[in-house]
Amino acid sequence: ICTRSGNEDEFRDMVIRCNNVGVRVYVDAVINHMCGGGSGAGTSSTCGSYYNPGNRDFPAVPFSGWDFNDGKCKTGSGEIENYNDAYQVRDCRLVGLLDLALEKDYVRSKIAEYLNHLIDIGVAGFRIDASKHMWPGDIKAVLDRLHDLNKTWFP
Ligand SMILES: *[C@@H]1O[C@H](CO)[C@@H](O)[C@H](O)[C@H]1NC(C)=O
Repeated sequence: ICTRSGNEDEFRDMVIRCNNVGVRVYVDAVINHMCGGGSGAGTSSTCGSYYNPGNRDFPAVPFSGWDFNDGKCKTGSGEIENYNDAYQVRDCRLVGLLDLALEKDYVRSKIAEYLNHLIDIGVAGFRIDASKHMWPGDIKAVLDRLHDLNKTWFP
């Protein structure tokens, strides 16, 4: 957890202070994809961790080539070409973004780990980004693994 808006300690401090005065925090969670497949390797990520979209290497998670839908998408370009085709919308890339294979237990577990960390800190819920680009059963499999909200504020 770290962005241009602050680091994890600062986020935690904000969530605690907000909860203590009755202001709830909802995270806009991006769990469908990683970065664009065409961007170069380097450490210009939000937290400065190394990544290489070219070979699907995200060692900070870690995610590798096994964890993306490259083999599942059936379009020639690997992109969503027809929004009337639910398979393309859910299995192919959205504007070039590397599409995570949410059917994989490992990918589900890494995403649930991330969301549970936020729940334990004290967030009240999530807005799941790009949810129409994921299979409902895959989203459910992730949500079924989530902790109850933090009892300090949500008894
Ligand atoms: C809930 O939040 C409190 C206050 O920050 C923290 O001490 C506690 O460990 C959290 N609970 C869980 C289950 O993480």
